[in-house]
Amino acid sequence: MRKKIVAGNWKMNKDLHSGRVLTSEISNMVADEVKPDVQVIICAPYIHLTSLGAIIEGRNNIAIGAQNLHQEVSGAYTGEISASMLQSIGINYAIIGHSERREYFGESDALISKKIDQAFENNITPIYCCGETLDIREADNHFAVVNKQISDALFHLSEDQIKQVIIAYEPVWAIGTGKTATAEQAQEMHKNIREHLSNKYSKAAADAISILYGGSCKPDNAKEIFAGADVDGGLIGGASLKSRDFVDICKSF
Ligand code: PGA
Repeated sequence: MRKKIVAGNWKMNKDLHSGRVLTSEISNMVADEVKPDVQVIICAPYIHLTSLGAIIEGRNNIAIGAQNLHQEVSGAYTGEISASMLQSIGINYAIIGHSERREYFGESDALISKKIDQAFENNITPIYCCGETLDIREADNHFAVVNKQISDALFHLSEDQIKQVIIAYEPVWAIGTGKTATAEQAQEMHKNIREHLSNKYSKAAADAISILYGGSCKPDNAKEIFAGADVDGGLIGGASLKSRDFVDICKSF
């Protein structure tokens, strides 16, 4: 059985105090209300990670993750953070290849594949993001484009490694726009991704991989989207900044 996962992506939001308050609220609500087989991950700004880690210490199904990491091991990369630094403060998850990184920081799948390798070198589970823009969907190229993103960034991995990757399908036109993919659009893309993984690796490997949906996921649409046979949870932006909304999404399986 693959894992059910809900990951929050705070992006560049929350100062330390409000981030700590939000994490405490989520942590307590998760302990009281969320089924223990759901893995909850809070991906926060780098500078908060240690402090937030201390708040959730000892809790079973909640973890703190990063939103990025650098593709090189170490060296003269002013302002950057390496995977080994994250590992040294106890971080086991990182979002890699988010569409905002692709758009605003020029990240390509070739670069992202190096970040994926750094994550594996340092025992960090990558949450690999893929997804098409609106013009690609309108031109009916969305399956081909997403499959190519996955091939280019992930298909150098071994079967053992690919089974550990978390994939987040996030149609760019749905991120922060209030427009969600319908449950049918999410399920058909997730099924396509799983088939693509199965063709390259094996059905067993593809069936082990959690594929999350992201893009304007909210408490009032999460249940319908998560009901898809190939939808194993969500990557949540805006709604992860409110404890009640985020935890309600965590309860939507
Ligand atoms: P959103 O963001 O939920 O605010 O649309 C999702 C994401 O970017 O991961």
